[in-house]
Amino acid sequence: MTSDPNDLFYAIHHTRAMRRLKPDPVPDDVLNKLLDAANQGPTGSNKQNARWIVVRDPGQKAKLAELNRIAVDAYIGNPEDVAPDMRGIVGAVMWQRDHWAEIPALLIPCLEFEQAPVDTWAAGAGSGGSIWPGVQNLLLAARALGLGAVITSLGLSDRPAAKKVLGLPDLVEPYAMIPVGYPTGNFGPVARKPLSEIVHYDRW
Ligand SMILES: Cc1cc2nc3c(=O)[nH]c(=O)nc-3n(C[C@H](O)[C@H](O)[C@H](O)COP(=O)(O)O)c2cc1C
Repeated sequence: MTSDPNDLFYAIHHTRAMRRLKPDPVPDDVLNKLLDAANQGPTGSNKQNARWIVVRDPGQKAKLAELNRIAVDAYIGNPEDVAPDMRGIVGAVMWQRDHWAEIPALLIPCLEFEQAPVDTWAAGAGSGGSIWPGVQNLLLAARALGLGAVITSLGLSDRPAAKKVLGLPDLVEPYAMIPVGYPTGNFGPVARKPLSEIVHYDRW
């Protein structure tokens, strides 16, 4: 396999969750390339109802940092109780918690609905199928451009509070917060289960 991050298959195998990011700004044209890549993703019935909020304002980042901090602390509990194989991830999550407001850009993927989802947001999350392809395009584009990024969801745990900070209308729902910036460390390969553990042929 090549080591060119513009090679699609290399990028797929080396697009890891990158949480430790430098505070250096990401130029607008670079951010636009990411958003343009996301915008090429498919949506159900080609409704093109994905929307993106680009958060760079320090006050806004600070408010979202607080929502993320509350949720991360509740999720992790006592870091000393974390299983040994999770300590690397948890360390990075806590680093990100503490540096959230310094992240150069937070990208918030949203969907704009035509009417209120019949059930709760969770039921409407079926419609998340119209946001995640664009999100993955964005992650791959970030990797190709040497940017680190990671899907995060904990900071949206208090959904009404997050929507209020972001000024989202009732029919616009956020799906993640994606911190983006230049990584402090190196990109490595992802580690996943082998196909033999996850693929079934013709029936389970
Ligand atoms: C739906 C979803 C929600 C996630 N939420 C968070 C989160 O709130 N905080 C965080 O640090 N990482 C979050 N992640 C990142 C995952 O922990 C990460 O993608 C996974 O551990 C694989 O990491 P790797 O690609 O580096 O192996 C989320 C990922 C997904 C797909």
